[in-house]
Amino acid sequence: MTNDMKCLEREVEFTSSYRWQHWLRAVSIVILVATGFYIAVPFITPTPHPTPTGFLQNYMRAFHLFFGFLLIAVVIFKSYIFLFVKDSSGERKSLLDLINPAVWIKQIGYYLFITKHPKLKGTYNPVQFAAYILFYAMIFGIILTGLMLYVQVYHEGLAGFLYAPMMKLTVLFGGLAVVREVHHLLTWGIILFVTVHIYMAIFNAVYGKEGSMDAIFSGLKWHSKHE
Ligand code: HEM
Repeated sequence: MTNDMKCLEREVEFTSSYRWQHWLRAVSIVILVATGFYIAVPFITPTPHPTPTGFLQNYMRAFHLFFGFLLIAVVIFKSYIFLFVKDSSGERKSLLDLINPAVWIKQIGYYLFITKHPKLKGTYNPVQFAAYILFYAMIFGIILTGLMLYVQVYHEGLAGFLYAPMMKLTVLFGGLAVVREVHHLLTWGIILFVTVHIYMAIFNAVYGKEGSMDAIFSGLKWHSKHE
C-alpha cells in the first residue's frame, strides 16, 4: 500500500483546556525568561531625565510578576486536570509505560532509528514523561523560589500571608542569595528543556507522520487504521 492510499483515523489527542494551558504556559515562560534576564542584568539605561520617568526596571519587574502569577495559575490548573479529570486518564496511564523497561528500550531504539515506535498504554512515551516530570520539578522549584523573592518586597495581601512560610524556606535554602541563584539556575534548566522539547516535537512530526505537531493546535492526531 502506498502512503497516499493509507487509511487514517483521527483521534482527540489534546482537549481545548489542555491546549490553552500549554500556550499560556509557553507565552509566560518566554516573557519570564526575557524579563528575568533583564532583572538580573539591567543592560538598558533609560535616558536620564530631571523628573524620574525612566522606570524600565520597574516595568520589567511588574511584567515578571504578572506573568509569574499567570504561570502559577496555569500550573495549578494543569496539575488539577492531570490528577483528577477523566479526559487526562491517558496522561496518567503514561505511568504504566514509565515503569516498563521494555517500552523504554523500544523507545530509545526508535529515537536511534533501530526499532519501531513502541505501542503505548498512555499519552506520553517514557522518555518524554520522565522529561516532563523533571520539567515540573523545575517549574515548582522556580515558582517556590520566585515566591520567596516576591515576599521580600511586598508585605500586604498574599505576600503578607505567604511571608512567614517563605521566610522559613529561605532560611532552609541558606539565605536569599542562594534562593536568587537557584531561581536563576532553574531558568537555564527550563531553557534547556524548552529547546529539547521543540526539537523532539519536530522530530516526532517528521518521523511519526501522525500530525503530532498539529495536535497541540487542533487537538487532533492521525493514526493508521491497521495499527
Ligand atoms: C519560568 C518561570 C520563571 C523564570 C524563567 C524566571 C526568571 C527569573 C530570573 C532570571 C530572575 C533574575 C534572577 C537574578 O537576579 O539573577 C528572576 C527574578 C525574580 N523572579 Fe522570576 N522567573 C520565573 C518565575 C517566577 C515566579 C513564578 C515568580 C513569583 C511570582 C518570580 C518572581 C521573581 C522575583 C520577585 C524576582 C526578583 C526581582 C528583583 O530582584 O527585583 N519569578 N526571575
